[in-house]
Amino acid sequence: MNKKITVIGSLNYDVILKIPRLPFKGETLTANGATFSAGGKGANQAVQAAKLKTPTYMVGCVGTDASADFLVNTAKEYGVNVDYIRKVPGSSGMGVINAVEDGSVYACIVRGANFEVTKEDVDNAMPILKESGVCILQNEIPVEIIAYAIDKAKEAGCTVVLNAAPAIELPEECLSKVDILVVNEVEAEFYCHEKIDSVEKAKTEIKKMAEKYNNNVIFTLGKDGAVAYENGTIEFIPAMKVDAIETTGAGDTFCGCVLHYICEHGMEGLEEENLKEMLTFANAAASVITTRK
Ligand code: RIB
Repeated sequence: MNKKITVIGSLNYDVILKIPRLPFKGETLTANGATFSAGGKGANQAVQAAKLKTPTYMVGCVGTDASADFLVNTAKEYGVNVDYIRKVPGSSGMGVINAVEDGSVYACIVRGANFEVTKEDVDNAMPILKESGVCILQNEIPVEIIAYAIDKAKEAGCTVVLNAAPAIELPEECLSKVDILVVNEVEAEFYCHEKIDSVEKAKTEIKKMAEKYNNNVIFTLGKDGAVAYENGTIEFIPAMKVDAIETTGAGDTFCGCVLHYICEHGMEGLEEENLKEMLTFANAAASVITTRK
């Protein structure tokens, strides 16, 4: 397998507010602090993969506003190849994240330049897709581009991973064409139309989902860990117990580790033992990331 990764997705300027609780209607609540950082599920996943020393390309768009260069330069500083990020007139994508003291997160995103990604951007990325073993997409660019990119990445010979986050309606064929689908428990509920309130329930629903779409599926379950369905095998790995202070992007760290692992081992090497190892590794990294801002 080619040991490079292409990420086709979002870059967001994140404002993370640390709040003691959610404000009531009509209330002005004082936050305990704010962090400004480069984010976006696409860029976060690219950074994680690059931190693991896998050559990683980012395909996406930023605006012409003050945060655009910051987003591109931050990805570059972490070792992500930014040659396929295009600047478009207007605002960059943005994330506004309410991080509550109890560890829960309430986030909104502003689409901005992420919704300017075109089929032409994907076509221009064909040379790097052909060099890549794995391509990942998320749901922060237009649905028609996600669908197109899945086809092009398959045509280029990539293993295709879809982190279907945030949860949105997708054509069924998008879900069935990808090799691995990764969702958190909230997104899993959206796609399964079932409450995922226990590991046992997650195991039942993941099997149904994987059989329905005939692919491999991973559910991340926050502080409970992760469950995966791969070629008929179901694995559950509990999360590491840590004192979490900031959980934003933990799922992206998980995805970046999965990409790196598949590049190293290949999909065909993902037998039971490897699957366990991959989940343990991704879980551990995602847990560690929550202990820092
Ligand atoms: O997964 C976390 C990310 O989701 C944030 O960086 C935010 O920008 C949103 O895309």
